[in-house]
Amino acid sequence: MPVTLVVGGQWGDEGKAKIIDVLAPAADFVVRYQGGANAGHTVVAGGERFAFHLVPSGILYPGVQCVLGGGMVIDPCALIAEIRSVRSRGVDVDGRILVSDQAHLVLPYHVALDEGSEKRLGNQRIGTTGKGISPAYMDKIGRSGVRMGDLRRRPTDLEELLRNRVRAKNRVLKAHGHRVLSPGKVVADVMSVRARLLKMITDTRPVLWDAVDARRRVLCEGAQGVLLDVDHGTYPFVTSSSPAAGGACTGTGLPPTAIDRVIGVFKAYCTRVGNGPFPTEDAGRDGARMREVGHEFGTTTGRPRRCGWFDGVAARTAVRLNGVTEIALTKLDVLDALDTLKVCTSYRVRGRELHTFPSDARSLDGVRPVYEAHAGWDTTSTVRKANEVPAAAMDYVEAIERHAGARISMLSLGPQRSALVRLPRRRKASARRVRVDTNSTRR
Ligand code: IMP
Repeated sequence: MPVTLVVGGQWGDEGKAKIIDVLAPAADFVVRYQGGANAGHTVVAGGERFAFHLVPSGILYPGVQCVLGGGMVIDPCALIAEIRSVRSRGVDVDGRILVSDQAHLVLPYHVALDEGSEKRLGNQRIGTTGKGISPAYMDKIGRSGVRMGDLRRRPTDLEELLRNRVRAKNRVLKAHGHRVLSPGKVVADVMSVRARLLKMITDTRPVLWDAVDARRRVLCEGAQGVLLDVDHGTYPFVTSSSPAAGGACTGTGLPPTAIDRVIGVFKAYCTRVGNGPFPTEDAGRDGARMREVGHEFGTTTGRPRRCGWFDGVAARTAVRLNGVTEIALTKLDVLDALDTLKVCTSYRVRGRELHTFPSDARSLDGVRPVYEAHAGWDTTSTVRKANEVPAAAMDYVEAIERHAGARISMLSLGPQRSALVRLPRRRKASARRVRVDTNSTRR
């Protein structure tokens, strides 16, 4: 089957766009399946840096058709602005972007509600990107959203729909003491981009089914990561969509049987932006060094990312949850020149040992990671072939394979396209035998 899924194995920012960029030349379609402009996918190509928020990262390759799937929530004005900005840098985008008519619109009231909700939560806030993601998905699930397909309505009907929605949301905003919006301005903004959007909006599902039938190659590009998944992440400190593999099916209309390759992208250490549990966070010198060397600041918000050690418990859970068939390990070079590195192998919490990331994040209160230590190495930043990887770095890579339970097929050692090493198949990595612990989430 010709569908490859690229999924974030941690809390987002794993370097998925770099992996998409490496695979895209052999692809016919690159499809985003969830999230919205909360994502910040960075690609460095020809010395230029591109940061994509809504447009799939495959856009830099002229032969690739880019699809914004039905599982996404899309700010229509932000999409048009992003397309314009990509085009202004010499990328030919015409006729290459399709937008699912099932995708939902993020409208200004979603942004205002996101802002308002974070303010109300005070020090309990989620630390969202402020892009209106959660309110837009709330409307979708609550069956009161506006979909891309609604832009096909007669202009007067669309205007009435939007005005009614804004008025209803203004009542909520007012009740919470937040600024209200001008219905006329919201309508005018949407109308100003409607004609351009209509050229891209279609039922993208048959396009993808036909592609699969014709054995054309489809790459599904996840945004965020599994630990931010609304079902499987550290709820409530999650995003409001399904970055995990299951989301690729609902967010594109592709059946699970079409997917035959699942690439889990993991950073060689861990980062997280926003609040919520992070068992292996290192608030000390090593974490600060990772942030500085790895330029760990949000692409969308510029916020400093929290940094810490590779979490084998979370990785093992992500591998099983997504059916990861291979791992792309990124930013190994950021760990160059450290004396000692740590990999978390299990958690201790209230006298128990956990080997699976718990389904209830509150079970992580008071968690203590159990680490194994690894010797450091000099440098990997100039490595371009598998046999050039220093022995200590390879030991570290193999430890990650062992704990995660999947083989590492690609190592990324810098932002440039060339800084990627494909690792040949070695021995089969196998998950350590873990005790099945049905009480592992009991508080
Ligand atoms: P939201 O998606 O803006 O609602 O934010 C919810 C949580 O997900 C916050 O902790 C954000 O920092 C986090 N988040 C959302 N998008 C990304 C991303 O692309 N990378 C990393 N974290 C993200």
